Amino acid sequence: MTPNRDGPDRVLVVDFGAQYAQLIARRVRECHVFSEIVSHTVTAAELQERGAKALIFSGGPKSVHADGAPGIDPEVYELGIPILGICYGAQLLARDLGGTVAKTGRGEYGRTDLDVDSAGVLLADTDHQQVWMSHFDTITDAPRGARVLARSPETPAAAFEDTERGIYGVQYHPEVIHTPRGQELLSRFLTDGVGLLGNWTMENFIETSVASVREQVGSGRAICGLSGGVDSAVAAALVHRAIGAQLTCVFVDTGLMRKAEGDQVVETFRRHQGIELIHVRAGDRFFDRLAGITEPEAKRKAIGELFIRIFEDAKGGIEDARFLVQGTLYPDVIESGTTHAAKIKSHHNVGGLPEDMDFELVEPLRALFKDEVRQVGAQLGLPDEIVWRQPFPGPGLGVRIIGEVTPERVAILQEADAIVREEIRAAGLERAIWQAFAVLPDIRTVGVMGDERTYGYPAIIRAVTSEDAMTADFARLPYEVLESMASRIINEVPGINRVAYDITSKPPGTIEWE
Ligand code: XMP
Repeated sequence: MTPNRDGPDRVLVVDFGAQYAQLIARRVRECHVFSEIVSHTVTAAELQERGAKALIFSGGPKSVHADGAPGIDPEVYELGIPILGICYGAQLLARDLGGTVAKTGRGEYGRTDLDVDSAGVLLADTDHQQVWMSHFDTITDAPRGARVLARSPETPAAAFEDTERGIYGVQYHPEVIHTPRGQELLSRFLTDGVGLLGNWTMENFIETSVASVREQVGSGRAICGLSGGVDSAVAAALVHRAIGAQLTCVFVDTGLMRKAEGDQVVETFRRHQGIELIHVRAGDRFFDRLAGITEPEAKRKAIGELFIRIFEDAKGGIEDARFLVQGTLYPDVIESGTTHAAKIKSHHNVGGLPEDMDFELVEPLRALFKDEVRQVGAQLGLPDEIVWRQPFPGPGLGVRIIGEVTPERVAILQEADAIVREEIRAAGLERAIWQAFAVLPDIRTVGVMGDERTYGYPAIIRAVTSEDAMTADFARLPYEVLESMASRIINEVPGINRVAYDITSKPPGTIEWE
C-alpha cells in the first residue's frame, strides 16, 4: 500500500465485497477528491499510515448477522476518521455501534421512496427523494447517538448521521445513477461532513506525476510500446513531458488496426508531439503467421507471440533503455487482486509484453480511472481522435474476424467498421457509447442488388454502453442510425450484402466476438 506523503487528500473506500466499490471510488473522484479501494481486512494502523481523511464502507452481498460476514478492525472506530456507510456498510455501523439491524423478512429492491424527516448534513435541502435500494436486512435503530434523517417504506432508519462522531450512513446506493441526488449526497459528506476542499485535479496530477517520473528515470532511457489506444498514448505523452528525448516509442503496426489508425498514430506522435518513434510496419508478417488459423485462442496466441518478437527486435536498437512505460490503469491494479479479474487480465494481456522482460516499469497512470486518463490526455494536447478513442483489443481486428484472417477480409472489415464509427459520430453518440464496431463472420448469405443475385458476407454491428467493460448493455441505437449504417455498408463495401445488429448484453455475451 502506498503511504500518503504530500499527495491530495485521500478517501478510502473499504470494500465489503460490493459490486459497486469501484463505482463509489469514481464518484468520489468526481467530487475532486482522491479515492482508493482497500479490503475490509485493512487494519486501523494501515488506514492511519495511508493518511485517510475519510472512509466509505461499501455495500456487500452478505447479511451482517451471517457467519463469516465481513467486518472491520474495531479500532478503526477509535481513529476519529469520519465514516460513511452505504447499504451493508451502514448496517455494519448500526451493528457495531449500538444500533439494530433486523431481519424483518421484507427487503427493498430497486426504486424506493425516501422521506426525509430531518435533513442534516447529508440530505440538506431535500424532503423527499427517489433512491435505489437493494437490501434484505433492515436498519431499525441507528447507531447510538446518531440522528435518523430519513425513512423508506421498509426501513425506519434509512439515513442517519452523528456529526460529532463523524458517523454517517445510508441504506440506499447514492453511487448509482438511479439515485438522482446520490452524487450530491457524496459531495455533502465529503465537503460539509469531512471538510475536504477537493484538491484532486488533473492539473495537479500532471504536475506531481511529471516530477515523480523524473525522479524515477533520472538520466536513464525509457521505451514505450504504443498500441494506438488511449492509455499507452497518454502514458507516452506524460512521460515525454517529464523526460523529453530520453523517451523512445515503438509502434508495431500489426495490419490489424482500424482504418487509417496506423498513420494517425505516427502523425500524432512523431509530428505533433515530437516524440521519437520507431514505426514497424509488420502487417505482412502477421498475415503470414495467421494464414490458416481459425480457432480464436490460437489466433490470439499467434498475434501475441509475434507482437512480442517484433517489439523485442525493434527495441534492440535502443540498447541502453532500462525503463519500460506502460499504460496500466487503476482498474487493472484493483482487478489483479481477485481471481475472476485475474482471468480477465490474462486474456486481455494478449498483445501485451511478457513479465520477464528485464525492465523497470514506469506506470504513471496507475492511480487513474479511464475518464481521468482522457482528461489528462486532453490537457497534454493529444487530439480528440486519440483521447476519445474507444477501447480496442490488443489483437485488433483479428478477434473481430471470425475464421481466417486475410488481408482481403481485414480490408472489408476496416471499411465497414469505419462506416459504423462515422455514423455514430454523425449522430452525436460518440461519447455516450462505450464501443461501436463491426464484426465479420465466416458465413455468406444470399442477397439481391439491382438484378443481380449476390452471395456475400453479412456485417454485424456491435454497439454497447458500459461503465467499465465488466458489464455492458447493447446500445439502443435509433433505427435511423442503424438504417444509415446498413445502407452505407451494403452500398459502399464490396463483399458485404447484409447487416445485422447484435442485441446481446454482457453478461451473458462478451463485448468482442472472439
Ligand atoms: P470482452 O470481449 O471480454 O471485452 O467483453 C471487454 C473489453 O476488453 C477489450 N478486450 C481486449 N483488450 N486485449 C485488450 O487489450 C484483448 O485481447 C482484449 N479482448 C477484449 C474489449 O474490446 C472490451 O473493451
